[in-house]
Amino acid sequence: MEYFEIFQPTKIFFGEGAFKKLSELKAKRVLLVTGSSSMRKVGFLDEAVHLLNPAKVVLFEGVENDPSFETVDRIVESVGDSDFIVGLGGGSVLDAAKAASVVATNEGDAMDFIEGRKIVFEGIPFVAVSTTSGTGSEVTRASVLTDRERGVKKTLRSPLMFPYHALVDPALTFSCPPKLTAAVGIDALTHAIEAYTSRLANPISDGFAEKAVKLILENLEGACKDGSDENSRSKMSLGSLLAGLALSGASSGVAHRIAHGVGGRYHAAHGEILAQLLPKVLEFNLPSCEDRMRKLSKLNNFKSPEEFIEKITSVRDALSLPKKLFEFGVKKDDIPWIVNQSLSSPSIKYNAREVTKQDLTALLENML
Ligand SMILES: [Fe+2]
Repeated sequence: MEYFEIFQPTKIFFGEGAFKKLSELKAKRVLLVTGSSSMRKVGFLDEAVHLLNPAKVVLFEGVENDPSFETVDRIVESVGDSDFIVGLGGGSVLDAAKAASVVATNEGDAMDFIEGRKIVFEGIPFVAVSTTSGTGSEVTRASVLTDRERGVKKTLRSPLMFPYHALVDPALTFSCPPKLTAAVGIDALTHAIEAYTSRLANPISDGFAEKAVKLILENLEGACKDGSDENSRSKMSLGSLLAGLALSGASSGVAHRIAHGVGGRYHAAHGEILAQLLPKVLEFNLPSCEDRMRKLSKLNNFKSPEEFIEKITSVRDALSLPKKLFEFGVKKDDIPWIVNQSLSSPSIKYNAREVTKQDLTALLENML
């Protein structure tokens, strides 16, 4: 008989006006975390400060792409006696702010918790306001952080890291540029398909994943072509949220393991790396998840998994996303390092197909 567990404590606000829910936080002091100047330029930063009034708002600006452990420690230094931490941005901002919310209440630096220290105390309540449609970080218990010295990405994970609230307001994504929209959209698509084919897939994560794949496949190109197309943007926001829930209830797979290896060393955008990897990884996994892929293909009106994978490749190419690993600077000599990094992740065991060193080496050589 089937058995599974789901823990999803984040309260989700989705749709028009969700951003305004910030005004309902009862707080004396809020730490507002954001990335580069884009949130300031489009006015969302000022609006967030206004919505949080009368709370005293302390700003932490400048979270970089692929945030480092040091950035998390710097955010923690600004926490003080904040009642909430609010992250306003894409996946990098949300991951860094989310990690800071638990590092602030547990003794140690961010790196200590990767090296075995346990997160035992609840964090400062974290409110995730997502401004891209892709990351899923607003509903997951994980933060991907980069160790710059060693050039590796590591995932900090704890049931105590789920955001308190996720505010998903499609209007916040309208100004997201086409290239970023495309890359994060493929990230979301990968979350949904990897969750659906993972060994932790269950009826609840399946429901989220099936709906997410359909929404993303039908709307990603539209959202990239015309950022002001409210319908495509809203559906991408929903697809991305559902893909995040699927991921949270199951697991990602080998595409994410490789993407973290490549991203840590070459600093390429996560979604762009996945765009390159996804079709080949799906072909590789197919013998171990043919029934599931057949079902997913049928639900999206494709005759076969092969046709479904071809469609993903054609969307990737239409959006001018990378086709080969060398586009990120990867050389043949680098492959053993990437293979070792990918296999060192504990979640590799949840991939649809068992992965050996030889398999992964051949797969990567085929992608150069
Ligand atoms: Fe991802």
